[in-house]
Amino acid sequence: MHSPVPSHFAHRVAIVTGAGSGIGRATSIALAQAGARVLGVGRRKDALEETAHVHSAITVLPLDICEEGAADTIVGTALDLWGRLDVLVNNAGATAVMPLAETERSVITRLFELNVTAPSMLARAALPHLRDSSGSIVNVSSTYGHRPLPGGAHYAATKSAVEQLTRSWALELASAGVRVNAIAPGPTKTDVLAAAGLPHDAIDEMVSRERDRIPTGRLGDPEDVAHWILRIADPLATHITGQVLTVDGGLELV
Ligand SMILES: NC(=O)c1ccc[n+]([C@@H]2O[C@H](COP(=O)([O-])OP(=O)(O)OC[C@H]3O[C@@H](n4cnc5c(N)ncnc54)[C@H](OP(=O)(O)O)[C@@H]3O)[C@@H](O)[C@H]2O)c1
Repeated sequence: MHSPVPSHFAHRVAIVTGAGSGIGRATSIALAQAGARVLGVGRRKDALEETAHVHSAITVLPLDICEEGAADTIVGTALDLWGRLDVLVNNAGATAVMPLAETERSVITRLFELNVTAPSMLARAALPHLRDSSGSIVNVSSTYGHRPLPGGAHYAATKSAVEQLTRSWALELASAGVRVNAIAPGPTKTDVLAAAGLPHDAIDEMVSRERDRIPTGRLGDPEDVAHWILRIADPLATHITGQVLTVDGGLELV
């Protein structure tokens, strides 16, 4: 268990996508515990409500972030509620197991819509308000944003795109006082593989193979990742931008 970051987020406002589960839920809770007011977004209302149940500073908005106009609705909701925006955590995402021989156009389109296009539109909608607050964007990439993933090339490609967006926006926005960073988790205990439609036995096999390769000997917990999302978004971290921080128990070193 990590202790919450003290008060740097007091009176700050954050948007977290994918707040109903995994890394997004842990991040929403950690931000609220650190003093922020949090708008948690995702499609499943019941899952979001479970997150909101943990802390009264979390308000939820059930919405598909890929829908036309979703970005303006999300940012507008945070502004209507609290009049400002300090942090955008672009966390919602999905993976797909798809070897080249089985590649389908519809899967490529869906992955890029969710992992690249929707976070881009959210960042655009958030930008004027992040300028006003000298705020920051944290994009959630993956260790596979900068390592090859045989059998999952298109997921890896979306996360590579996220890392290039991060670096390019960081340069574009540095003079405006808006910071842009990314956290790249390694294998983390969440529902991401189940959400990709993989059967339980395939997930168990994949997880145990990954665990054997991770130098720290364990998969990450969502709280391990949330911890670093908060630290890189911390309003006092004013001199760090354009960075991709890998949180993977040393996996990419081996
Ligand atoms: N777990 C890992 O091993 C790992 C490793 C590296 C990177 N990541 C990245 O970490 C991020 C979070 O994933 P996770 O591991 O925490 O898995 P997860 O529990 O499956 O979380 C994904 C979240 O995204 C939301 N989401 C999916 N499609 C959406 C849509 N169209 N609109 C709004 N929300 C949507 C889901 O909620 P709804 O279904 O309710 O919409 C869910 O809460 C993802 O970007 C993932 O690629 C995970």
